[in-house]
Amino acid sequence: MNPVVELRRDGEIAVLAINSPPVNALSAQVREGIVEGVRQAGTDARVKAVVLHCEGRTFFAGADISEFGKPPKQPMLPEVVDFIEASSKPVVAALHGTALGGGLETALACHYRVAVPSAKCGFPEVKLGLLPGAGGTQRLPRLVGPERAMDMITSGSPVSAKVAKEMGIVDEIVDETDLLASAIAFARKLVAENRPLKKVRDLDDKIAAARGKPEIFEAFRKANARKFRGFQAPEYNIRCVEAAVNLPFDEGIKLERQLFQELVSGEQSAAQRHVFFAERQVWKIPDISDDTPTLPVKKVGVIGAGTMGGGISMNFANAGLPVTIVEAKPDALERGLGVIRRNYESTAKKGRMSMEDVERRMELLTGSLRLEDLADCDLIIEAVFENMAIKKEIFSKLDAIAKPGAILASNTSYLNVNEIAAMTKRPEHVLGMHFFSPANIMRLLEVVRGEKTDKRVIATAMQLGRQIGKIAVLVGVCHGFVGNRMLEPRQREANRLILEGAMPWDVDRVLYEFGFPMGPFAMADLAGLDIGWSRETSKGETAREILCEQDRRGQKTGAGFYDYDENRNAKPSELVEQIILDLSDKKGITRREISDQEILERCVYTMINEGAKILEEGIAIRSSDIDIVWINGYGWPVYRGGPMFYAEQVGLGKVLERLRAYEAKFGADFKPAALLERLVAEGKGFRDL
Ligand code: 3HC
Repeated sequence: MNPVVELRRDGEIAVLAINSPPVNALSAQVREGIVEGVRQAGTDARVKAVVLHCEGRTFFAGADISEFGKPPKQPMLPEVVDFIEASSKPVVAALHGTALGGGLETALACHYRVAVPSAKCGFPEVKLGLLPGAGGTQRLPRLVGPERAMDMITSGSPVSAKVAKEMGIVDEIVDETDLLASAIAFARKLVAENRPLKKVRDLDDKIAAARGKPEIFEAFRKANARKFRGFQAPEYNIRCVEAAVNLPFDEGIKLERQLFQELVSGEQSAAQRHVFFAERQVWKIPDISDDTPTLPVKKVGVIGAGTMGGGISMNFANAGLPVTIVEAKPDALERGLGVIRRNYESTAKKGRMSMEDVERRMELLTGSLRLEDLADCDLIIEAVFENMAIKKEIFSKLDAIAKPGAILASNTSYLNVNEIAAMTKRPEHVLGMHFFSPANIMRLLEVVRGEKTDKRVIATAMQLGRQIGKIAVLVGVCHGFVGNRMLEPRQREANRLILEGAMPWDVDRVLYEFGFPMGPFAMADLAGLDIGWSRETSKGETAREILCEQDRRGQKTGAGFYDYDENRNAKPSELVEQIILDLSDKKGITRREISDQEILERCVYTMINEGAKILEEGIAIRSSDIDIVWINGYGWPVYRGGPMFYAEQVGLGKVLERLRAYEAKFGADFKPAALLERLVAEGKGFRDL
């Protein structure tokens, strides 16, 4: 018998039990076992109904994602679900954990579904650039109606068992502690009452009203246009739901199959599947095993109550940890705490938190004007102005104040963590924890490993990152670490391109169309052009300096690279155009027509090249970690998989060839990384490293 499937009999009820850790993904072996089990139960005259149950932590969490992109193995999931639905004996799905994707599709093909209260049901396929390809797009609308089906399928978010029951996905909620016995009892009742086989494919009442009404789907597309921009899968999912409403079941299934095949063999899904595995890989550190002991962190100190310090503190308060925030001046401290309160209150106003929660979190935050008050903290994060002298001074003071064993972290975004650590007598307890603004929202955390940082300290920082809901990426010391270091060549090229012939809105448009939420100039306007600028030291040599001198400092002043209306809508500015033309002239640059292709290649290939150097130097552990940094910290479009994955989709040979061509024209800034040269020569990719 199949090693992951067991068929037992409990009187007239057969239990088909699957045990394929960790998440009972529907691998070929599992699929085979299900078909075999249902067939055997069907031919056993003693059996009157079947319970489909998974051992371990969850019902099937979906198709086996690692099988996609490889030669198909029989039986395919659509056949498996059809086989279950066609069973002449009722099949009851017993749901616990996460019934996701193909797992939920399997459940929908069963004739009844029971679930424990903690179970969740969902279709996360869209997050993998896919659609539910085993009947999910056709069965779900028949159960819950097209609107709710579209919501669920295009968001990828799961619903609780309670909501699933209200929606009609689940027939009965059963005792949390005894799912299997309850499911068997439910099956017995079905048999006793001689209830009919309920096939979802035959339902019509929830979809009939929407038939012949394309406006329902149009309205949904319009309402979500911003969210779906650039992604292929949401539109394909909508088309399938529309087909469920308008076509006979089998026709709908045909379309679903066809669109699924198109998506699964396409570039976007390959990229999104890469991101799925990369997000899980990122926690694995080759020389620090999973069982490395972590240090207890019960109390956190944050130095600086500015935008970064405040956001960082909120993360810990949200996770229930008390935080002491130290500022130098009373008014700055008061302002900082006020901003945090307003942030929480605005979340509460949107209904995403109660006012009691606001108070509970504020109570966890204590303001102070004395570094000495951090003496009992287990972790202290410095988040002051980006200036080495100030940071060094703080760390040497902290060394005298912090208790033995406390972790001392700097939120520096560029500076040398080893130099900072050297100010203390405990460099093994010092590291970087680089948050991204707004720190309470952005998912990325770069954990910066100093040359002397203790492995337990790193393991603790990574684990804390997970605890506060971040995706933590371990990086080494260099100027700007992974993210900001790669941002530099992009900024450099963007600034050069506008002097050579492009306008800021050309560069922004190309990067926006590539999939970034905004281009570098719109981004600069949003952040404020005067960060790090002062009138006294301004040399008027760059467009940014000239704009600041003219008090065009970005969105906050209503003008920067763009003009802004009262709703902060950006419009290209003739004045800026003139400033740029004059600047090119002053620098003796003859402007020329610059193609979109050149803009993209110069901004993105230079980033990839920097990424290759980062890998070469061992600053990042693996290329997929770099992808995770860019997706979660800088808005790299998920459907392009991150810069290093994208480079491989384009072809490393092509990237190398273009870098060489630009090197010949513009010089050493485009010199290809030795690693890139080597990989191309050997016919390998980043992922082979
Ligand atoms: N296929 C293959 N491997 C999977 C998998 C899947 N569907 N789901 C999880 N895994 C693997 C993970 O890669 C991880 O492996 P690792 O230990 O080697 O890193 C391991 O299982 C445990 O996963 P997590 O670390 O994510 O465990 P959690 O407990 O945090 O989360 C989960 C569990 C919620 C089930 C989460 O793993 C998850 O969201 N999985 C993906 C679910 C999904 O997308 N399903 C749809 C698949 S597509 C589909 O079904 C197509 C169909 O319509 C035809």
